[in-house]
Amino acid sequence: MNNFDPPRKPGSLLERAGEIYDYIPAVRTGDQKRRAQDDASSAAELRPVTPVTPRPIETYDGPRVIVDRDKLREAGFIVPGGPVTGISEEFRIIKRQLLLAAKGNQKTAPVRNGERILICSAHPDEGKTFCALNLALSIAAEKDNEVLLVDADFAKPSILSSLGLEGSKGLMDALADPELPVENCIIHTDIAGLAILPAGDQTNADTEYLASSQTEQVLNRLTQNNPHRIVIFDSPPALSASPASVLATHVGQVVMVVKADETTETALRDALGLMGGCEHIQLLLNGTKFSPTGRRFGSYYGYGE
Ligand SMILES: Nc1ncnc2c1ncn2[C@@H]1O[C@H](COP(=O)(O)OP(=O)(O)OP(=O)(O)O)[C@@H](O)[C@H]1O
Ligand SMILES: [Mg+2]
Repeated sequence: MNNFDPPRKPGSLLERAGEIYDYIPAVRTGDQKRRAQDDASSAAELRPVTPVTPRPIETYDGPRVIVDRDKLREAGFIVPGGPVTGISEEFRIIKRQLLLAAKGNQKTAPVRNGERILICSAHPDEGKTFCALNLALSIAAEKDNEVLLVDADFAKPSILSSLGLEGSKGLMDALADPELPVENCIIHTDIAGLAILPAGDQTNADTEYLASSQTEQVLNRLTQNNPHRIVIFDSPPALSASPASVLATHVGQVVMVVKADETTETALRDALGLMGGCEHIQLLLNGTKFSPTGRRFGSYYGYGE
């Protein structure tokens, strides 16, 4: 994007990220893109779209908790049932594109494992957890979908603390102990459609556990028998922790958070290179505001508006 362009209506954060980092489409070559489109349209002809049926009654066995709405508000998260804000509108647009890829429609076939979405970024503090939680809250507000938010930042989990919740068993415990059903680690919240899977106990072998064949079985259990569930993974930073690239092999979509004016092109390229296990990668520009003149400057939404 050129800062001296005439004013125009800004697109979504996904579109703007694509424009600013306009070399990104090169991540997938024209041939790959055409092939993917061809595959998608021929698969769409063969596969009917799943009809929407009401959200089923949840059957998880884990604990139930109440989420502190004031804490959500103070941290700038979307508050369920709260007023429409800039952030809630942005995530409404972002989730549409992700849900379309996850579920498909009459024209497009669903992406394989598209209901599993990894929220990643190159470095720490670029807004992965902020975006993962807001996206989860936004999707949970949908009548036809429910969300399981997985804290996959095993070395530095922060989903539970962001929600004001206590630590408990989680994904890594279920991966390490085949006797522990992953369903028992899921925390139900009082926010309709939102459940959490904590990271679990820290181990030095998290990447090895994630790379094991057991992982796919455990992840399948999270979505089996429930076509309405979207699973969002809050990832560790791609360039500082090895689990991110392994997680990318288990998901159908990656959202790469780019921090406005901070994430460098080199870091972004390196991080995208590590996401090779997933074909569907979108960029999400975080922490930016657009002035009426079209000039952009780094500032988090919710600050100084
Ligand atoms: N768009 C935003 N608006 C307001 N606050 C934000 C925004 N994005 C991030 N933040 C805040 O910035 C801080 C860092 O964000 P966050 O924890 O989401 O980063 P992260 O990429 O998950 O970091 P880490 O890699 O350390 O887990 C948090 O306090 C978060 O609430
Ligand atoms: Mg985080």
